[in-house]
Amino acid sequence: MSNRRKIITPEIAARVEELLAKMTLEEKIGQLNQVGPTPVGGVDLTLAEWKRMLDAGKITRAEYDKAVAGIPMDAQEDDVRAGRIGSFLVLKGAEKCNRMQRIAVEESRLGIPLLLGLDVVHGLRTIFPIPLAEACSWNEEVFENSAAIAAKEAVATGLNWTFAPMVDIARDARWGRIAEGAGEDPLLTSRFAAAKVRGFQGPDLSAPDRIAACAKHFAAYGAAIGGRDYNSADISLQTLHEVYLPPFEAASDAGAATFMGAFNDINGVPCTTNPYLYKDILRGAWGFDGMVVSDASAVAEVVAHGTAADRGDAAAQSLAAGMDMDMGCRCYIENLADRLQRGEISLQQIDDAVRHVLGVKFALGLFEHPYVDPTLADRLYLCAEHRAAARDAARRSMVLLKNDGLLPLAPDAKLLVVGGLAAERGEMLGTWAAMGRGEDTACLLDGLDARGVQYEYLPCYTVNHENHTIGEFDPAGLAEAIAKADFVIAALGETRNMSGEASSLCEIGLAGGQDALVAALAAAGKPFAAVLFNGRPLAIPHVDAAANAVLEAWHLGTEAGHAICDVLFGDHNPGGRLTVTFPHHTGECPRYYNHVSTGRPAGEIRHSCKYMDAPITPLYPFGHGLSYTEFAYENLTVREENGMVTAQVTVRNTGARAAEETVQLYVHDRVARRARPVRELKAFAKVWLEPGEEKRVELTFARSALGYYDTAMHFIVEPGDFDIWAGHDSTADLHAVLTVK
Ligand code: BGC
Repeated sequence: MSNRRKIITPEIAARVEELLAKMTLEEKIGQLNQVGPTPVGGVDLTLAEWKRMLDAGKITRAEYDKAVAGIPMDAQEDDVRAGRIGSFLVLKGAEKCNRMQRIAVEESRLGIPLLLGLDVVHGLRTIFPIPLAEACSWNEEVFENSAAIAAKEAVATGLNWTFAPMVDIARDARWGRIAEGAGEDPLLTSRFAAAKVRGFQGPDLSAPDRIAACAKHFAAYGAAIGGRDYNSADISLQTLHEVYLPPFEAASDAGAATFMGAFNDINGVPCTTNPYLYKDILRGAWGFDGMVVSDASAVAEVVAHGTAADRGDAAAQSLAAGMDMDMGCRCYIENLADRLQRGEISLQQIDDAVRHVLGVKFALGLFEHPYVDPTLADRLYLCAEHRAAARDAARRSMVLLKNDGLLPLAPDAKLLVVGGLAAERGEMLGTWAAMGRGEDTACLLDGLDARGVQYEYLPCYTVNHENHTIGEFDPAGLAEAIAKADFVIAALGETRNMSGEASSLCEIGLAGGQDALVAALAAAGKPFAAVLFNGRPLAIPHVDAAANAVLEAWHLGTEAGHAICDVLFGDHNPGGRLTVTFPHHTGECPRYYNHVSTGRPAGEIRHSCKYMDAPITPLYPFGHGLSYTEFAYENLTVREENGMVTAQVTVRNTGARAAEETVQLYVHDRVARRARPVRELKAFAKVWLEPGEEKRVELTFARSALGYYDTAMHFIVEPGDFDIWAGHDSTADLHAVLTVK
């Protein structure tokens, strides 16, 4: 049973009832209506067209801001005044937000403030690493701190709600949204989820520098078949509860004020209209007292799913399932009154949804402080403290995938940098960074310049700014440049919009001319380090084979270039560990470490669970990540007492540099009623070790973490033997047996 940190106090509940009693039906339904700014009149181009011109580089950001600022939104203001809107998405800027808030608070009959939400996923103006990257730090302080900073900057732009964290488990690297979450592991994603909620909301959600978090996408969005975005999830109830739900439960327990429903269906039932999710699990089992919002236009999309006859039916089914707020498609505002009259929904259902919305508004303190100080942004955006935190997070997010000794680089050697991504500031921001700006961002070349490193640069491929694609290989001058250099750094990977929403791929190799560039570097034989910029695992066995070192830099945000150089030149010892498995080939997807045991485990023999044309082991396993030093593990002991399992292991730094190690503990249930995962992460710990130093590291977890759902969906912890491994990654071979009584 969950232990939710409640956000609705008795005092808030009483205020909600008092306000609810004064509301008309229209005002109630208005609270359930979330809209985006819809520009009307006065301009020759639509907002989307301006945006396309900006993305295409045809106008500057300043020109875009000026044009968009001039677009009036009169229609919306009247609706706010009439109490027909409870929330906005994508309204930004303190002035604009204050203006709308003032209309709601001072000109509407009941003065109910607006929820103003945006996808502040990994920073607002100071952009942190994309979530998949940050997760690789395995560092809850980093997760929490970056969210707290994002909250401060979000407040400065007038917001009080973020549509984050995304806590969807993602096992398929083809799915573009793998970039937005913490990877493939339920435990790590649960820690990530709770830390993000703490970071956004703080110890007191009503504090003026905090915003409401939104755990999304509830649920199993990452189980989209084939990794194709918006696709169905067809999974067992056991898998839903054991793999996909734990991070949501962790977010709820941490007090997440809001949840967002997912676009997908699960076993044929759209999440938007699924009462099992909101009533049985979220409010029933987990005691959630916040509010649920649909995903964008998801209520209307129930018609396309084919489980509602029309928008009105979709609205009625969604409300009845426990979907409190309709994001962006006006199905509620246009239909709920009529469906109430027809008896398809009850007033009680509408009232309950309104209670949840008002509860969050009171918990946020919006009735006390609805407006923001418009001078905050100038003081906070990209301030030294925020930049320093972004650089620290970026350094910790990188994963050294391979190193034969080339890294760290000698500062005075002759360096050649190749690959257009090395010069791309905007691409470093990654997905969901709408208010991040390329001009505030350091690319790899900026990082080298800031350190005064001499280098030659040849793009060899270009990044097309119009459609964010990667161009063909241009070998001009490469052979001569390689001949002059001592070593080469190759920037490889993806542009920022090759991952994220609606960015699923059926090939996760290197796009454009990058393979040809890698082949040219391999043929030249000069030592080279590949620096990868990407939002998903890439299938790159040829890079691994050719390069002397491979540094996974992901999309690291504002401080990318500086942080990368900190690692390349050895100021920071790389300590990131993969939270997703890297396959050799796209065809291995979904490839993840915690798969269930089969009757024929992959092995040398032909008739075993494997592909004939791919290696048995992945290119880089879950938990993998090298360091500029090495660690040795010995003497693993494990015991169970009073409902807790405690393991101890000795870890020694056998290299010449002080460094932090992430100690990982994996478990396997030897005999169970349902086949269990071959390994599951159950605990991890960080330890700092000087050269030659050793420490006894203790890892603990609750006995209940050994449990699972049986075929009748009863959660059980069975007595018996469990394999325990401790070590550096998911292939750790230091083993002990735990006998559970
Ligand atoms: C995404 C959500 C996001 C929403 C609002 C949707 O398309 O799926 O994750 O929060 O848009 O921007």
